[in-house]
Amino acid sequence: MTTGRTAELLGAATIAALQRPLAEARALPPAAYTDEAFFALERELVFRRHWISVAFAHEIAAPGDAMPVEAAGLPILLCRDRAGEIRAFHNVCRHRGAAILATRVTGQPTLRCPYHGWAYGLDGRLRATPLWDGRRVTPPGVLDRDQLGLVPIRCGVWADVVFVDLSGRAPPLAEFVRPVAALWAPYETENLALGHLAEGEIAANWKLGIEGALENYHEDFVHPSLPARIDAEGRKTFTDIAEGAMFGFCWSGESALRSPTPLIPMRPEAGDARRTDYLSFLFPNTQLNLYGSVSVRVIWTPVAPDRTRLRSAFYVVKEAAAGDAFAEARAAMAAYWDNLREEDRRAIEAMQRGRRSPAAGDFRFSPFWEESLHHFQNKLIAAMLAAEAAAD
Ligand code: FES
Ligand SMILES: [Fe+2]
Repeated sequence: MTTGRTAELLGAATIAALQRPLAEARALPPAAYTDEAFFALERELVFRRHWISVAFAHEIAAPGDAMPVEAAGLPILLCRDRAGEIRAFHNVCRHRGAAILATRVTGQPTLRCPYHGWAYGLDGRLRATPLWDGRRVTPPGVLDRDQLGLVPIRCGVWADVVFVDLSGRAPPLAEFVRPVAALWAPYETENLALGHLAEGEIAANWKLGIEGALENYHEDFVHPSLPARIDAEGRKTFTDIAEGAMFGFCWSGESALRSPTPLIPMRPEAGDARRTDYLSFLFPNTQLNLYGSVSVRVIWTPVAPDRTRLRSAFYVVKEAAAGDAFAEARAAMAAYWDNLREEDRRAIEAMQRGRRSPAAGDFRFSPFWEESLHHFQNKLIAAMLAAEAAAD
């Protein structure tokens, strides 16, 4: 029998029911979406132990640009150093603990604490402590400055997404992203540029947001503009994919979600390989999509059990990313996705409200449509149980 805090909060029988084969399984119970203690446990066991996405690299484009972000509930700051590399640090001053950055800044030679003026280099080293002993410049030896740098956090960038690993012990980032990188390899994704950025919040648990993107069952009912996901014989037109940290689905052929900008070119080496659309996640909170002419990358940030922030960056071919020629196409793309998001938001928030009912529970998965949900929910619980076992 499963023991530990995850099992205490959800019940060992509930976990066992989730772990059963798809057709007999029961989905995660309402508490996994509403309970403060479970939310805190997820942060501790999952978000602080895996690579999580926190920002887009283009947001701090030049050396000296920096921004505060929250990662798994912790205040951190990201900056681009003199060499152009992105670094992450805990956003806390070593003097007496003020958060150093409150807003995004650009072109700073140092990061200065707003409280007593301690200044840190873009490499995190403590550079200046003016007036520390009454003197404008603190003489060497007065403070153990070498011990008082900003505390670094492991970070890396892939596909313009900035990831951090708060544990410092997750597998290398390249390994983490490899399954998605392999799917994207036939496409010239390095030649894309940001065409649109959308930010929003949903009044629902982060898992409901991800689950809303992960199953096609609701599309007939929620998104009248989307094409059918079953053919005339009632067969799926999509394929579930899962490998390593990646999960999601794909479908081949002409993209149904094509935006009115040019197709993302395929590499000559791809030959006459069929174009494929990918909707994929990297566990836990990163969504990386490739749809014909647009790559949409979404950062899902849990804020509270019933509140989630999401930021979606849309990348299109460079010539369509800026300027007048494609301005209308970009606006049409943004409007199309805003509409889909809004349709999803209403459905997802209804899922959150339903979970407050005492009659909620004993939820089923459609074996036809919801295999990927079963996979995701089991992945979450497996990650939590593994983290607990490792801590024993
Ligand atoms: S708390 Fe930052 S300089 Fe005092
Ligand atoms: Fe949807």
